[in-house]
Amino acid sequence: MKVIVAENASELGKQAFKLLAEAVAGGAKTLGLATGSSPVELYQEIVASDLDFTDMTSINLDEYVGLAPDNVQSYHYFMQEHLFKFKPFKASYVPDGLAKDVQAECDRYNQLIKDNPIDLQVLGIGQNGHIAFNEPGTPFDSVTHEVDLTESTIQANSRFFDSIDEVPKSAICMGISNIMTAKEILLIAKGKNKAKAVKDMLEGPITEAVPASVLQKHPHVTVVLDQDAASLLD
Ligand code: F6R
Repeated sequence: MKVIVAENASELGKQAFKLLAEAVAGGAKTLGLATGSSPVELYQEIVASDLDFTDMTSINLDEYVGLAPDNVQSYHYFMQEHLFKFKPFKASYVPDGLAKDVQAECDRYNQLIKDNPIDLQVLGIGQNGHIAFNEPGTPFDSVTHEVDLTESTIQANSRFFDSIDEVPKSAICMGISNIMTAKEILLIAKGKNKAKAVKDMLEGPITEAVPASVLQKHPHVTVVLDQDAASLLD
């Protein structure tokens, strides 16, 4: 895995943007996208750029079960506000959090990923090493599934909600094997609270106990860090 350490968050956004722009210039047609605080500076750079996605497809990693697309806490809404309203794609897919048949929605999503192979997947990493909502212990061969969120993830995400009781308890999320099918992966991490997970991902054993460690097996991963996230690296 290639590691880039940026001076600060704004520099990190620029570095990540450079990699994404290169992938687009190289003919990428489908982007895998993430929500959360990690890709915010990247999305700001994209919005300020002249990149045009109107001939491209995006596929998001995950969505909370039970939240409508217009719910301000939903990942649909996040993507709309941070990217899609400024830079529309030909088609943008986010799992349907209101699907009555969650398994059918997972099957539909797996097929979508097969039909639109992801050229570049943007990822963040959880403090416990999760990627998307694939928590420690998730099998590496998992595909899109409904996942019960761990207490630590509910705790971490509660900062975006009025109270912790409002944080949904499950999500629909791409599996680890879906993520590994992407041709290229760009993982972004900021802050001291990510330093241990980043170290385990890059320097620890490949184990389902640290979902992101699977990325050591991927041939084309770039990890963009700020200095705090890189602070425990050898
Ligand atoms: C978001 C996602 C999550 C986040 C991770 C880090 O779509 O799938 O895995 O990437 O929880 O979140 P932030 O970036 O908010 O620290």
